[in-house]
Order: sequence, then structure tokens, then C-alpha cells
Amino acid sequence: MGEVRRQSRPHRPRSVADALLVDRLSAQLSNWQTSRGLADYAVTDLGGGTGTLAMSLAEAGHRVTVVDPSLDALASLQRRTAERGLADRLQGIQGDAGNLVELLGEASTDVMICHRTLEVVDDVATALSAMATAVRSGGVLSVVVPQRRAAVISQALQGHIGAALEAIDDPSRFDLDQVCSMITEAGFRIAEIEGIGVLSHHVPAAMIESETGLAEQLYQLESRLSRDPAFRAVAAWAHIFASR
Ligand SMILES: C[S@@+](CC[C@H](N)C(=O)[O-])C[C@H]1O[C@@H](n2cnc3c(N)ncnc32)[C@H](O)[C@@H]1O
Repeated sequence: MGEVRRQSRPHRPRSVADALLVDRLSAQLSNWQTSRGLADYAVTDLGGGTGTLAMSLAEAGHRVTVVDPSLDALASLQRRTAERGLADRLQGIQGDAGNLVELLGEASTDVMICHRTLEVVDDVATALSAMATAVRSGGVLSVVVPQRRAAVISQALQGHIGAALEAIDDPSRFDLDQVCSMITEAGFRIAEIEGIGVLSHHVPAAMIESETGLAEQLYQLESRLSRDPAFRAVAAWAHIFASR
């Protein structure tokens, strides 16, 4: 995928889709923080893995806890955290959606992040309910899930018609309406919905890298399409930002 450098201190180039997601989330959190008049806030990244997003939030000065069942991911997170001098603001805890509240406590965090993880939990509704319990009133939730329709399109465009047929009923992917309903039923109010990776996932990385400026143009295109209901419904990822 093409690379876009948008933050002032990037540690490694990110894909166009990841760059857009981080930029959007940063803006949403900044607006929310201003509206709440908070000097600082606590973030929990459920399924945060090796902590790429967690580290950028810690570098922005926030207190971040990554909860993840993978000891390997947590070891990598710990090493990277130490290398960047973030140990006082970023911690990793072994756990999962099932024991989130037990680990952190009720109303223990201001911002809950759950990116690309709802598709691997045992029970999505129970996981969202645990997140709602862990988030303080007035706090926010950021969810990223893979979309079923995008998988159908992607498989078909690669000529994998059988896989496209199977993807129509893939239970590990989501439809936007379905995931939004579940988030609402858990007790959150949806503030913003956007599609991440509407077209960038269909454009070969080599093509983007072959011409200077194409990655930036693709970023602009993704940015324009991300909130159009028709385009966002077929994006690789749905990003939902909600309040508690
Ligand atoms: C695809 S990775 C996503 C990592 C990161 N959030 C991102 O967006 O790049 C999924 C993560 O979920 C974690 N995971 C697996 N089962 C989980 C569960 N039941 N509860 C919470 N996290 C889980 C995995 O260890 C892994 O780090």
C-alpha cells in the first residue's frame, strides 16, 4: 500500500488507510477533549497488540493501557515502550474482552479503543457491554471492524469468485448497520461513522509507489469518500466513534 507521512514524528511509514484512521481519530479525540474541558485522559486499547496506536497516543501525552491476550505482542510492546521512553505513560496488561472489567474496574477509563479486534472475540455483544462498563460516563469508544461487503468485492476483483461467494456469509466480518446496532445496544451513542480503505485496498502498492504524489492523492480521495454512505458501506474497514 502507498505510504503517507502526516505526523510530525513518524516512526515508520503508514498505509494510506492507516494514516487516515489515525488522523481522524486524533481529530475526534481532540474535539472531544476540548468539549469536555479535560486536561488529560486515560485510554484503554483492547486488543492493542504491539501498541502502534497506543504509542502514538502516549507520545501525545495520554495515559494508555493496552489489554491483549498475546504475551508475544505484550513483550514487543514493552520493548518498544522502553526504547521510546514511554514507560511512565504506557503499560501492557495480559487480558481480553472477557476479563476487561475485572482487570481495570468499572468506569475506569475515558477512551476505549477496539480496532480490528471485535472480529476475534468470542461474543461481540458481551465484549461491547464490558467496554461500556469500563468507560466513564462522558467517555468515548473507537471501534474498527472489517466489512463483509469489502471482502466480497476484494475477492471478486482478484478473480476468486468462490471465495467472494463465501465472503457474503463470513461471520467474522460485519455489516455497518449490524455493528452500529450492537454498539448502540451496549449503551453508546454513535457520533461519527466512516469508511477506512474505500479504494486504497484495491490499488496495488507498487502502482502507488511508482509515482511521487500518488499516495497523497489517494489519501485525499479516501478522505473525500470516507463519509459518503454509499462508499463507506463498501470500505475495507468501518470506523465508528461513539460516546458513553
Ligand atoms: C488484528 S490484531 C489488531 C491489533 C491492533 N488493535 C490494530 O488495530 O492493529 C487483533 C488483536 O486482538 C488480540 N485478541 C485476540 N483475542 C482477543 C480477545 N478475546 N480480547 C481482546 N483482544 C484479543 C490479539 O492478540 C491481537 O493483538
